[in-house]
Amino acid sequence: MEILVTGGAGYIGSHTCVALLKEGHKVVVADNLCNSKAETIDKIEQITGKVVTFYEIDVTREKDLDSVFAKHHLDGAIHFAGLKAVGESKKKPLEYYYNNVVSTIVLAKMCQRYKVNRFVFSSSATVYGENEIPFIETMKLLPTTNPYGETKVISERILMDMQKANPEFAVSLLRYFNPIGAHESGLIGESPNGIPNNLMPYITQVAKGKLEKLRVFGNDYPTIDGTGVRDYVHVMDLAEGHVLALENLTEGVQVYNLGTGQGTSVLQLIRAFEEANNIKVPFVMAERRSGDIAEFYADTSKAKRELGFTAKRSILEMCKDAWRFEKDFK
Ligand code: NAD
Ligand code: WQD
Repeated sequence: MEILVTGGAGYIGSHTCVALLKEGHKVVVADNLCNSKAETIDKIEQITGKVVTFYEIDVTREKDLDSVFAKHHLDGAIHFAGLKAVGESKKKPLEYYYNNVVSTIVLAKMCQRYKVNRFVFSSSATVYGENEIPFIETMKLLPTTNPYGETKVISERILMDMQKANPEFAVSLLRYFNPIGAHESGLIGESPNGIPNNLMPYITQVAKGKLEKLRVFGNDYPTIDGTGVRDYVHVMDLAEGHVLALENLTEGVQVYNLGTGQGTSVLQLIRAFEEANNIKVPFVMAERRSGDIAEFYADTSKAKRELGFTAKRSILEMCKDAWRFEKDFK
């Protein structure tokens, strides 16, 4: 299949391009590089030995996206493009709503116009809000605590309504848990701008000496050791999940959790990183971060049953691969 990957130069998008090309699909990337670099496209080509067609465009701009659809015979689209920093979304809500929601509308509109009926969307476990664990797809969604999370809830609803009006349309809403790690080549990985918000990039930058020490946000949660628990999933497992979702699309809307089903605490992740890479990660205990939930992880049974998806890579591999990328290639 020939697949449009919006946000394909970004962290999860670039790994998914690798997985798609490996499975013999053709890839067309549309990315405005607001949080990524064009050289990532070259790295994807280097890893796979295949060609990637790249358009530096903003997918909220209908005319620009229309010209991409006009040039290709696309079979499907995977929509990664979006802004993703939770804290920033509270300071710049309009930017987040505009970019994330309008990009979804414009892309869906182009799919309708050009009869591209396969659509995979990057959603997030954040849509569950502070729900019972494990999070399962059938749960009633609870409010998220930030505009970023709301853009995912709204985009999911828009795609569901669009599908109802266009029954030939097949949509997969993928709710990611916490993607970490990098491609085993060390050529592509996560490189956030500025000081990282997320745990693993913070750990790797402390290990490298770029940042002095990690602050562990809260050690009084009702969890195994008092620190926050998350379901960390290797980004290549996540990438392979997209290929499965795309290849198994059926008419209608399907929702899938993509995670491992296992919770890991902040302290457990620090220890795993130290053990995997034989390096110290200095840390201090700090106040809880506002908006954080104590613990969540995925019920993964639906993705396993319907897509044959199981995350294969261990926490130690996630830590090794994240460190290889940080250490050697930046
Ligand atoms: P990322 O920032 O690395 O990638 C997003 C890409 O989209 C970037 O390359 C950016 O330049 C591009 N982009 C943003 N707005 C655009 C626009 N209007 N037009 C064209 N390109 C645009 O982020 P990521 O971690 O790879 O996340 C990909 C998707 O997955 C996002 O939608 C994000 O919300 C979602 N998601 C991420 C996580 C996570 O923890 N990383 C978890 C759940 C969901
Ligand atoms: C993980 C754990 C922190 C940094 C966020 C978004 C979510 C999704 C993934 C997009 C928590 C603790 C962190 C630090 C710490 N993104 N932590 N010190 O908050 O689960 O999810 O990214 O959809 O929507 O909210 O991930 O990596 O920020 O935090 O102690 O410097 O690490 O408190 O327990 P989170 P995270």
